[in-house]
Amino acid sequence: MLRGLGCINVMRRAAVSLERSRFLSSSSSSRIRSRRRRRREEGVREIDEDLQAIIHEYDIQLARPRSLAELLEASKNSREEINHFLRHEYLVRSAERISMFQERIGVERIDQVPELTRAYNLHVHCFEAMLEAGGSNNNNNNNNNNNNSDMTPVVQNIVDQTRSMVPLLCTGMSRLVRRDGAMSSLFVNQFLNELLLNRIGSNVLMSQYLSSNIVDPQCNVTAICGTVARQVRELCAQETGYKPHIRIESHSSIENDPNQVTASFAFIPGILSYILQELLKNSAVATAKQQQQQYARDDIQKAIAVVICADERRVMIHIGDKGGGIPFEVGQHIWSYLYTTKKPQPDDTTTTDTNNASNLGGYGVGLPLSRLYANYLGGSIKLVSLPGYGTHAYVYLPRLPQHLVEVVPERANSSLEEDPYWVVKKNEFIL
Ligand SMILES: Nc1ncnc2c1ncn2[C@@H]1O[C@H](COP(=O)(O)OP(=O)(O)O)[C@@H](O)[C@H]1O
Ligand SMILES: [Mg+2]
Repeated sequence: MLRGLGCINVMRRAAVSLERSRFLSSSSSSRIRSRRRRRREEGVREIDEDLQAIIHEYDIQLARPRSLAELLEASKNSREEINHFLRHEYLVRSAERISMFQERIGVERIDQVPELTRAYNLHVHCFEAMLEAGGSNNNNNNNNNNNNSDMTPVVQNIVDQTRSMVPLLCTGMSRLVRRDGAMSSLFVNQFLNELLLNRIGSNVLMSQYLSSNIVDPQCNVTAICGTVARQVRELCAQETGYKPHIRIESHSSIENDPNQVTASFAFIPGILSYILQELLKNSAVATAKQQQQQYARDDIQKAIAVVICADERRVMIHIGDKGGGIPFEVGQHIWSYLYTTKKPQPDDTTTTDTNNASNLGGYGVGLPLSRLYANYLGGSIKLVSLPGYGTHAYVYLPRLPQHLVEVVPERANSSLEEDPYWVVKKNEFIL
C-alpha cells in the first residue's frame, strides 16, 4: 500500500485517463452506443445465497483495531497467526464494505452507475479471493484449514486490482448524486468517509503482510517533510512556472533533545508523506496563483512556512501559506469528496474530465482523504483560512505507538462528525 500511498496521484491520473479514453476517444455515436451496451451487460454481479450468507457471517463480526505497537511486533508471530489474522480481518472489513454498498446504496442504484458497479463487483471478487486463500470457500473464520500457505499472491492481486478504487468511488458517487436527486451530499460524504476509512485499515494490514515493515519506528517528520517539499516545489514549477519557497523549522519541548527532536516517532511514513504532499500542494497552488495575479516579486515573503513541533506525547505540524485563503464560497465544500475545482460535466459524459486537473490537484479528494488518514491513527487535521491573506493547516498526530490505534468506522463516526466548519470571527473561519 505504501507504494500505493506514495503514488496515489499517479494512480488517480491513470484511472482518470483510463476513464477519459474510455469515454472521450470514441467519437462516433455507434461506438458510444456499443460501449453503453457493453457497460450494461457488465452489470452488478449476482451473489448466490451461500456466498451472501458467508458475507453476512463476517459482516456481523467486529473488526479488531490494531495499534502501531502491535504492527511493529507483528512480524514476530508465526506465519500461521499472521495468515489467520489478515484473512479474518480482511474478510470482516470487506464484508462490512459490501454490506454498506448493498444496504445504504442498494444494488439497483449501483447497477445504474458503471463506476459503482465496477467498485462493488471488485469488492465481491476480492472477498471471494481472500475466502479461498483459506483453503475452503464455505468456511468461517474458525475453519481455515490451509493456514501455513503463503497468501502473498492473493494479497498482491487484491492490492493491484483495487488501486483505482478511490477515483472509481468518487466518480461513481458524484454521478449518482446528479442522477438521484434524493441523495444528499452529506449522505454521500458520510458514506465515503466510512467506506474509505474501513478500506485504509484493510490496505494497511495487507501492506504490512506484504512488506512486514510498513511502520518506521524512527519516522523522521522533518526529513520526510523536506523530501516532500522538494517534490512539490518541482511539480509546481513544472505546472505553473512558479517555484514557491518552503521554509521548514522544527522545535521540541523535550529538554536535552539532541536534534531538538526532529520529531522522529513510530509512524507509517507513506501516510505522513501523503498528508504533507496534499497540504503542501494546496499551499503551492494558492501561492502560485496569488503570485501570478499580483505580479509580485517578493516571493521570499510569500514563502510557505512549515513548523514541526513535538513533545513526548504528540507531534504537530503547521503549514501556513500566504496564498490568499480559501474563498468563502469554496469554504464549506473543501472536506467534500464531491467538490472539485474542475468544470462540471453533463451527466452523459465523463465526470472525470481533467480539463483543470493536474498532478497538483483538481480531483477534490486531497483534503478529505488526508483528514481520513490522520483520523485513521487517532490524529486530526484542521484548516483555518484567513480570506484575502492565507491558509493555516494544523496536523495533529499522537506520538506513542501504543496510543496510535487504528480507528475503525464505528468509532470514527463521532470524531468525523464533530469537525464541520464554523464561523469564528467576521473574516476568519475554521474548516
Ligand atoms: N492552502 C489553500 N489555499 C487556498 N485554497 C485552498 C487551500 N487548500 C485547499 N484549498 C481549496 O480547497 C479545495 C479542495 O482541496 P483538495 O481537497 O486538496 O482538492 P483539489 O486540490 O484536488 O481541488 C481546493 O480546490 C482549493 O479551492
Ligand atoms: Mg489538493
